[in-house]
Amino acid sequence: MCGIVGYIGHRNVVDILVKGLQSLEYRGYDSAGIAVVDYPEDKNSIKAPAVHIVKGVGKVADLKSMLDSSPVSGRQGIGHTRWATHGGVTEVNAHPHSDLSSKLVLVHNGIVENYRELRAELAAPAESYKSETDTEVIAQLLSTLYTKYGGEERPAMIEALVALHKRLRGSFALVIMAKDIPGKIYCLRKGSPLVVGFSGEGEALCASDVPAILPYTQDVVYLDDGDIAELSAEGMRFWNASGEEFEKNHVHIDWDVSMVDKGGYPHFMLKEINEQGAVLRSSMAKRLAEEGTVDLSAELPWTKEEACAWKRIHIVACGTSYYASLVAERFLETITDLDIRVDVASEYRYRNFPVGPDTLAVFVSQSGETADTLAAERLAKARGARCLAVTNVIGSTLAREVDDILQLKAGPEIGVAATKTFMGQMAVLYLLSLYIAKLRETLTGDYERTIGREMLALPYKVESILQQQEKIQKLAVLHSEARDFLFLGRGNSFPVALEGALKLKEISYIHAEAYAAGEMKHGPIALLDPRVPVVVVSPKDDLHEKTFSNILEAKARKAPVIAIASEGDASLDSTADNIFHVPVTLPLLSPFLTVTPLQLFAYYVAKILGCDIDQPRNLAKSVTVE
Ligand code: M6R
Repeated sequence: MCGIVGYIGHRNVVDILVKGLQSLEYRGYDSAGIAVVDYPEDKNSIKAPAVHIVKGVGKVADLKSMLDSSPVSGRQGIGHTRWATHGGVTEVNAHPHSDLSSKLVLVHNGIVENYRELRAELAAPAESYKSETDTEVIAQLLSTLYTKYGGEERPAMIEALVALHKRLRGSFALVIMAKDIPGKIYCLRKGSPLVVGFSGEGEALCASDVPAILPYTQDVVYLDDGDIAELSAEGMRFWNASGEEFEKNHVHIDWDVSMVDKGGYPHFMLKEINEQGAVLRSSMAKRLAEEGTVDLSAELPWTKEEACAWKRIHIVACGTSYYASLVAERFLETITDLDIRVDVASEYRYRNFPVGPDTLAVFVSQSGETADTLAAERLAKARGARCLAVTNVIGSTLAREVDDILQLKAGPEIGVAATKTFMGQMAVLYLLSLYIAKLRETLTGDYERTIGREMLALPYKVESILQQQEKIQKLAVLHSEARDFLFLGRGNSFPVALEGALKLKEISYIHAEAYAAGEMKHGPIALLDPRVPVVVVSPKDDLHEKTFSNILEAKARKAPVIAIASEGDASLDSTADNIFHVPVTLPLLSPFLTVTPLQLFAYYVAKILGCDIDQPRNLAKSVTVE
């Protein structure tokens, strides 16, 4: 949940580290720091290298101010932006950390579970540690191991890292510099993501995620569990967990640097909401033909026989990805005959469902690094299920572990609140559902084309909603003082209500609860009074009249009602206090249109309240710990 970056090359490292950390700040933003090693130009110099550590509480911008007032320089360095786990948000707990004799310095993402046991075992007295972190114990253990190894067979640091990997329990991505190994940076990964790249101009980089590396190279190497990398101005070398040197494949990333800046928008979230028409187009391209037929055979090598042998589909995810899965569940159950189960990964991994070779298990994750989703995937795989990842990040751990992948093709999402990837997930899951139904012959060609053609019209319809942002802005002004919201929806509008409430609470910190509209009278109705606005997702569909009854129930308690309705539907005009109309589409596809006003509503409320929209408190984009 932290962001780490390292650079070695011919330029002053400070700017590179700061920019890299800024691009990774979505991973954690309570404190930040860098370590820069300034080696003497003359390799024969006996002058000891100077290691400058600058760190503090706050954002990367605060770190930058510290560096502006007390500059440091060097051509090699590592940096970290933290999301606190072990120890409070303090300067001493901020990374980088050194061993007790300051022989080496390192940054860490993840959690080492046995750090207390290791600390007790290391000779150093407990009071000699400066911080409360597990990371400082790792630094001390590595230093002890490094001193022990002579490096006859392999460089001593590689021996030490192989041994360290065996001793640490938990998840970690580590980036290390040793004072007596000038010109080299070492990386070790288990569980937490780490990607490395070489620019071809004598510059090597490593980071938790590609945005930090993209300005220098689009060809990267993803480290696997147990991998060790050595970076230098000459290139990159790799060893596996047994200490054997090996070659690793490069992956070309088709994202470019312009995708990781705000492009003139005040926030990444607003930019990403506005990209949703384009996201729909790119996630459907080459998968959905003009006449509305779907073909995923280029990505999913499934035969009819295999698809017909599945008895069940499990869809597993967290947060927004889970809500996209709930939307897809309702579509899948309409067009296939499969037994469908959708669950949050943190529950799925500890339950006891029948899962085996007759199961297609679909794991939906924007980042592909969510710890619970990965654990659920490993469980399903161990039981013989066919595992498919629906992810935005092609080199992610999830993508590399599964049998099949469908990429969202949404481009990088930097705002911590997921928006455009929700849209991309729904699109890809709908295409997947159509494809499965086609293989299993539970769908007629006519029906497939009707849905497919209407899906192709969705980007234009989403864009027409985006052109009416002022209306949503006005709604946000009207309701920004409310402290509690209720979101309601039925059928496929229920997961949209869940997503709308999640967006509002994540970025505005307003309490928002979502309920299946029919459940309101089983409890939440007690909350209603004139201070609790009720947002009702009510497009024209078979359940519309039933939802209308719930609107009347809310009005009877004098709660203000904001309705998301279909264009041309006048039935709510005299009942709802405010109505936002979305274009008409097939009822099965309405979530693609009804979610956008809710994303914008959350954005504008948070903006009015002056919240930190792209980096909301306590959250991190990628939750790599359980
Ligand atoms: O990367 P993932 O899709 O696996 O992440 C899952 C959730 O952590 C994520 O959707 C989270 O709920 C977001 N903050 C939603 O805005």
